[in-house]
Amino acid sequence: MQTPIYLALDFPTGEEALHFLVRHSLTEVPVKVGMELFYREGPPIIHQLKENNHPIFLDLKLHDIPNTVKSAMRNLAGLDVDILNVHALGGAKMMEAAKEGLLQGATNTVPKLIAVTMLTSMDEDTVQTDLKQPMELAAYALHLAEMSKAAGADGVVCSPHEAASIKAACGPDFLTVTPGIRLAGSDQNDQHRIATPAGARRMQADYLVIGRSVTAASNPKQAYEQVIEEWNDYDNYN
Ligand code: C5P
Repeated sequence: MQTPIYLALDFPTGEEALHFLVRHSLTEVPVKVGMELFYREGPPIIHQLKENNHPIFLDLKLHDIPNTVKSAMRNLAGLDVDILNVHALGGAKMMEAAKEGLLQGATNTVPKLIAVTMLTSMDEDTVQTDLKQPMELAAYALHLAEMSKAAGADGVVCSPHEAASIKAACGPDFLTVTPGIRLAGSDQNDQHRIATPAGARRMQADYLVIGRSVTAASNPKQAYEQVIEEWNDYDNYN
């Protein structure tokens, strides 16, 4: 089975991203391409990564009116990546439109549609003070997950701490994709709701997204392998 650990390629240019993968022998590992890289390089970086056999999560977090998201998803579906995403905060109609666009544009297997619940960089205070959202963060993330499922999403991006309650409410097949993953001793950076790879697995994450714990490590290959080791042998790690 393919390792469900997506390496976040948060690099300024395609050249740097591809060079990093080659230099550290991260051959055919699943990768996540986000806004930074895609806005610079566009579809050719996806073609190149596919040619190098990397499974791809294209993390563009679409959030617009339903018609615009549907057309955008129709175009993105043609890139034939494994996972695409939207913000659940765009609402049910927007997510239904996203799914329709994907079905219309897919040339091969339909990419999985994943909805971002609350960013893992957000904490309770940000949600209540800035967004004036009176519900507790975990309860709100759960509400967004249930709404996403009803709208046809295949799963959500959530904090590892919310994965188990989302699974319990939405069923075992509804995917939980969790960023905010840190190896012991790694810098927390701007993330707030974090977990280790083993902790995330125990909390029922299906896929991990990990960036700086690997890309900023002194030995990225070793760090990536450590993530896999902790994911596989989760009972024996914190
Ligand atoms: O470096 P780090 O491991 O924090 O990277 C996490 C990656 O996951 C980043 O590319 C970020 O954009 C992405 N992400 C996130 N929180 C979400 C959705 C995506 O951190 N809710």
